[in-house]
Amino acid sequence: MSAKILDGNAIAKSLRGDIAVQVKQWVSAGRRLPGLAVILVGNDPASEVYVRGKRRDCDEVGFHSQVQHLSANVTQQDLESRIHSLNGDHSIDGILVQTPLPDHIDEERVIDCIDPDKDVDGFHAYNIGLLALRRPNFRSCTPKGVMLLLEHIGLDFKGLDAAVIGASNHVGRPMGLELLMAGCTVTAAHRFTRDIAAKVRLADIVVSAVGKPGLVSPEWIKPGAVVIDVGITRGANKKLYGDVQFDAVKEIASWITPVPGGAGPMTRVALLQNTFQAARAHLGFSE
Ligand code: GUN
Repeated sequence: MSAKILDGNAIAKSLRGDIAVQVKQWVSAGRRLPGLAVILVGNDPASEVYVRGKRRDCDEVGFHSQVQHLSANVTQQDLESRIHSLNGDHSIDGILVQTPLPDHIDEERVIDCIDPDKDVDGFHAYNIGLLALRRPNFRSCTPKGVMLLLEHIGLDFKGLDAAVIGASNHVGRPMGLELLMAGCTVTAAHRFTRDIAAKVRLADIVVSAVGKPGLVSPEWIKPGAVVIDVGITRGANKKLYGDVQFDAVKEIASWITPVPGGAGPMTRVALLQNTFQAARAHLGFSE
């Protein structure tokens, strides 16, 4: 079997088109543009690329966006006071602080400062808590983007076995909560998991979010499984690598995402959806 390719670029493009149409209708009803503020600290080249991409996406769908590019030496206090001021800015619906942050910054305290009603990344403890209680408000963007991909292929999630590899706060954990909410039986594999291959081999859906190129080998995959690769690592040769041994796993899986062009563009489109959701809520429209 050779897997079908889940083309995140194409699916995200179509979803951005839908958002652009909705924004046009929104604006022609006399409402202000949805607004996203991004805070970028320091000069990490990968973060700069991601932030440029987010800005481009906002332009494409017709959102207002602003980027505050701060020095790597910014103090915790200065960073937090900028977030407080964006919390009170009525032209801004969503606030995103690009990670990673420099070592002297306490990331948890920074995220705690974001108004949960503007937390379009879905990183705030309040939003993760709502997801855990099956009352999601802002859903973390990468897991939400993966769910959009899985919905695109028409999966009936109920009763499927899913394995999430990697248990980070921003991706692995909320990914497990999303799949659980959808009715899957979820295995959360992490660095202390014993015989990971045996556990992943039971799964109908495999999501790898580790950041270790080549980690997921074909021996880990049940024939016909759907394999989503969220890992992304830039090699010394500047090429991007996922966690999954793509060429070999493609021969076993039924669907597989490429890297790049799989989960990445879907994360960005989830951010746009969340920002529009925030704008609707701020102007008093319920879902
Ligand atoms: N760094 C890499 N991806 C992301 C993301 O989706 N959100 C934030 N805040 N930082 C990131």
